[in-house]
Formats: sequence, C-alpha cells, structure tokens
Amino acid sequence: MSEFETIIYHKQNDIAYVTLNRPHALNAYNLKMRDELYQVLGAIKDDPGVRVAIFRGAGERAFCAGADLTEFLTAPSPIIARQARWERDIWGLFLSLTKPLIAALHGYVLGSGIEIALCCDIRLASEDAQFGLPEPGLGIIPAAGGSQTLPRVIGGAKALEILLSGRWIKADEAHCLRLVNRVVPRKELLPQAERLARRIAGFEPVAVSYAKQAMVRGLDLSLEQGLELEAKLADFIIRLH
Ligand code: COA
Repeated sequence: MSEFETIIYHKQNDIAYVTLNRPHALNAYNLKMRDELYQVLGAIKDDPGVRVAIFRGAGERAFCAGADLTEFLTAPSPIIARQARWERDIWGLFLSLTKPLIAALHGYVLGSGIEIALCCDIRLASEDAQFGLPEPGLGIIPAAGGSQTLPRVIGGAKALEILLSGRWIKADEAHCLRLVNRVVPRKELLPQAERLARRIAGFEPVAVSYAKQAMVRGLDLSLEQGLELEAKLADFIIRLH
C-alpha cells in the first residue's frame, strides 16, 4: 500500500487498484491528484507485478465529479501551464499504457472523471452512474483528452451533442452509446471488475499487451497500416514462443 494523499494504490495478485480518494469532494481531480496519478501510472507501467489495473472512486457518491472547482483557473500563466504539460504529459502516459485498464464507475462521472474513464480500455458502470462534460458551461474545454477520446469511443455526432449541450446521461444511455461496456448493480461493480481483471491477468501478459496495442494503435491508422501493425506484432509473438 502506498502513501498518497488523494489516491489509494495497492496491488493484489497481479492486479493494481487505483482508488481516487477525495470522497468529501466527490473525488474531484485537483493538482495533488494529478501529481499522484502521474506517479501511479508510472508504477503501473514499470512494475512487472502489475498485469491489469482497476480504477475506481472512493465513497458512495462519485467516481469523480471533474476538476476541482476550488482550484478553477488558478493555474499559473498559460505558458507555464503548457510547459508543465510538456514536461509531464499525464494523459499521453495514461493512453500509452499497454496493460489493460478497467474503470469501475459509479455515481457522478463528470469532466475529468469521464476523461479518466475514457483512458481505460473497459468501462463497467453501476446503475446509479451519471456522465457529463460540463466544461463548455464553465467557459473551458475538456483538457484531459476527452475531446479526442470521447468521439473515438461513441462517434462524433453523439460526442458533440454531449459536449456542446452539457447534457448528462445515465448509465443505460451510456450503455446504449457504448460509452460503457456493461451496467451492473452497485454491489456487483467491484466484484465484476475484479472477475474480469483476474481473467485477463491469467493470460500471457505479452499477448495481452500486444492485442491491446494492435487494436488501440490500429484505431488511428488506415486499414492497410493497421494490418501491417497486426502482422508485425503477431510476428513478434511467434518469435517469443
Ligand atoms: N470540485 C470541488 N469540489 C466539489 C466538486 C468539484 N468539481 N464537485 C463537488 N464538490 C464538493 C462540493 O463542493 C461539496 O463540498 P462541501 O460538502 O464541502 O460543500 C461536496 O463535494 C458534495 O457536493 P454537493 O454539490 O454538495 O453535492 P450535490 O449532490 O448537491 O451535487 C454535483 C453533486 C456533482 C451535481 C455538484 O457537486 C456539481 O455540480 N459539482 C461540480 C461538477 C463540475 O462542474 N465539475 C467540473 C467539471 S470541469
């Protein structure tokens, strides 16, 4: 168990558990959480003892209610902010992880919350989950990858509607839109995420990682380039055996 202020990180049987842990503020994403999440993502990436990671929110009410509004627009000048992003590209790191990531989503999943979920590969939601991107209503735009990841997952038209209208959607609609893979009763959320994680963790890790890479990287390639990538990764795997 590691000692972070805003995140609980622990490992059990090849599975890493990342719990956003500011339940008094509905797990709002603040600067401290950004710094700690960056360290946690690095640990997931580098630790051969981690095969799958599960992301969840502490408390009964939220996975994450978005950026911490008490820090809203308190960032230093845009130049310094850009410099910080360049030095530490947390969303680039998140999206580059080749291990499978599962999001277990309950309650409010807003702003950065939905964006964190979109950095994961498989999203399970409990029946009480609600999703939204409130950024334009606050005079900002998503800055945790959401403007790129959401349309890639649910298609441009629906993504634009959700972003521009500020409309929140419930778990069933999120499922219809394929934003989440599955909707389950609240008490089943973690057990189902863990069952899935254990199943994946039981497979050959290199094959799992290459399978993820073939699909995720392939999404941004032409079919021809994607097939080349698949052939290359399949070849690497054969050579390993
Ligand atoms: N940043 C900082 N604190 C937040 C927060 C956020 N994004 N979202 C909720 N909180 C805090 C509240 O200030 C409150 O703290 P308090 O108990 O010290 O007053 C606590 O979490 C509970 O939230 P509350 O607003 O009382 O709960 P609610 O059930 O009435 O409403 C929401 C829940 C999610 C509808 C409401 O909290 C909300 O709209 N949050 C902001 C969502 C948002 O715009 N996020 C930014 C996206 S960029």
